[in-house]
Amino acid sequence: MKIFIDSADLDEIEQGYAWGVVDGVTTNPSLLKKAVEKRVKAGEKVDLKKYITRVLEVAKGTPVSLEVTEFTAEKMIDQAKRLYAIFNPVADNVVVKIPVNPAFKSSDTTHFDGIRAIRELTAGGIPVNTTLIFTPEQALLAAKAGAKFLSPFAGRIDDDLRGRSNMKFDKSAYYPASGMTVEGKTLEDNGIVSGVDLVEQCVEIVNTYGFDAEVLAASLRNPRQVREAALAGAHVATLPFGVIKDMLKHHKTYEGMELFTADIVPEYEEIK
Ligand code: E4P
Repeated sequence: MKIFIDSADLDEIEQGYAWGVVDGVTTNPSLLKKAVEKRVKAGEKVDLKKYITRVLEVAKGTPVSLEVTEFTAEKMIDQAKRLYAIFNPVADNVVVKIPVNPAFKSSDTTHFDGIRAIRELTAGGIPVNTTLIFTPEQALLAAKAGAKFLSPFAGRIDDDLRGRSNMKFDKSAYYPASGMTVEGKTLEDNGIVSGVDLVEQCVEIVNTYGFDAEVLAASLRNPRQVREAALAGAHVATLPFGVIKDMLKHHKTYEGMELFTADIVPEYEEIK
């Protein structure tokens, strides 16, 4: 499974690449806002074009997703082409992020604009990461339209399931892949019992029909969820920096280090 870093923070991205475990970057408007605000707060004047250029250079050889901010097919296509034309020459690694459905509510008429944009962009050679996927059927349509990456949002499904049943929860808290039962009923969203279940169903569709798309498990909030996404066959997982760091932590590893260190015989260290 490939690991992408879900961040627009240059310090985090540089560190992740320096560790040698990062295979790509995903950004979104919220992550970009957070990263820029951090630098502005530290007294820096941020030139966004230069900043994104630096992210692309650090990630050279691996894909970086840049999200569109428009809502209609025509405008998303225009913006995607513009972003690609400006930034892809930097390191030939831009992937444009398109929402699977850019509508804000059910009565909007733009439901298929994401799919139309994916189709046109991929036909023109611009790779697309489809974002905001919450159902396997959305993933199926995006795959049919030619998307390179399909991003099911696991954590936000778990938030929704817990939120709808009025649970108090911490977003980073583990939510079981097999779902949760409240008063004898498994919480579910139209047959999806957890974020990892959503990922697993997307993977099954892609693999069953041999789509040329990769399921990019997104909105992952803790190491156990990453493990379950990996076991579900996700081709990629995009992870916040903190989750990447937490993946190495275990109290028995720390304890083992202390015990082994206490037992080192001087002769062993003196071997030349
Ligand atoms: C990925 O591309 C998404 O933008 C991201 O994983 C969303 O994560 P969140 O639900 O934790 O904000």
